Amino acid sequence: MAASLPPTDVVPTVEHDGIVLCALERRDARRRGCERQIADAARRWRTGEQAIFAVRESADGPLAGIVDVRAPGPDGAIRASWTILPGQRGRSIGRRAVEALLAWCAEQGIEEVWAHVERTNRASARLAMHAGFRVVGDDDRWLYLRWTASATDIDETALAGPEHLDPAYVAGYDRKAAFDPAEDLAVLRSRGLGADSTLIDIGAGTGTFALAAAPYCRRVIAIDVSPAMVAAIRARAVRAGADNVVVVQAGVLGYAHDGGPVDAIYTRNALHHLPDPWKAIALRRMAGLLVQGGTLRLRDLVFSFPAADAESGIRRWIDATASEDAAVGWTRAELEAHVRDEHSTFTWLLEPMLEQAGFEIVESAYAPIGAYADYTCITSRP
Ligand SMILES: C[S@@+](CC[C@H](N)C(=O)[O-])C[C@H]1O[C@@H](n2cnc3c(N)ncnc32)[C@H](O)[C@@H]1O
Repeated sequence: MAASLPPTDVVPTVEHDGIVLCALERRDARRRGCERQIADAARRWRTGEQAIFAVRESADGPLAGIVDVRAPGPDGAIRASWTILPGQRGRSIGRRAVEALLAWCAEQGIEEVWAHVERTNRASARLAMHAGFRVVGDDDRWLYLRWTASATDIDETALAGPEHLDPAYVAGYDRKAAFDPAEDLAVLRSRGLGADSTLIDIGAGTGTFALAAAPYCRRVIAIDVSPAMVAAIRARAVRAGADNVVVVQAGVLGYAHDGGPVDAIYTRNALHHLPDPWKAIALRRMAGLLVQGGTLRLRDLVFSFPAADAESGIRRWIDATASEDAAVGWTRAELEAHVRDEHSTFTWLLEPMLEQAGFEIVESAYAPIGAYADYTCITSRP
């Protein structure tokens, strides 16, 4: 992925489907003060901070709107926005202009562009969808959108486990899958999580950890790809009066982080939903979200036996763990489905992935049964 925008003194001209993207000119300044904005746009092109295009229907035509992309923020994301002048709406100028912008991005080697639009702005959301963006998350105000040039983009919701999307299953989740967050919280606090910290919980489920951490942090961002889980966390946060918990419906790959780097990331039993190549990409994204020296606490169902012992190890784990009652634990059929349909990996594959992503593993522990691992990692490179 291109990590930056090309700095230039000469704004390129992009022609696409009856739309011309080009430099803003003095004639575009209709109100006092606009000249300054036009000069500022040229400066931003020169520094590579932002690529701001005038939208016209012909090279010498009047200004119909503005489209732009901003250089990557701390999370590495390039963001787009667009404005179409009121008199110019309703003729698909917006869609064609955004398509032209994305075509230019692709030419620059930019493989991923993010945007957000207000949920109430249906016209803008529709325009974005038609131009190739996909909704990857939302909150009370915004729809978060992602466009990718990649043909190998995956659908994180489809991989999330159908049960996690089912409100009835989610309603019984805490009875079945309750856990004590105290030890993980203590680990993160011992590594500096405190009153000024921001923490992200990825695949937060019903919010057990996010809600337990909230009193000790400035802000907790709980993200989960499942709408039913997100509804459960929101309800729980309201009940607890935890107004520093922000809940975002998004997958780890699709999450568009708004704000500076965060101090800590927690993720429990969520990473196994992604196939290994995507785990590696997700871990890299996590490292990119953290401040230098920030902490990742990762727990998951990871096999620590050698490949040669995999079949017997998996059988031993299922025999030792299976519950008779699906309401209070995982049955044999559920554990077998986990092995068959999900993507638990081996510790000896996951650990190099963590290192490749830019983490140093500072603590690790494997459960004696050979099927669970915990890691505490810190970001080891910028
Ligand atoms: C087994 S639950 C674990 C929930 C919680 N962390 C816990 O430990 O109880 C897995 C959670 O990860 C979510 N999930 C699955 N794939 C995800 C993805 N790609 N991005 C974010 N969340 C995901 C699921 O919706 C589900 O809530």
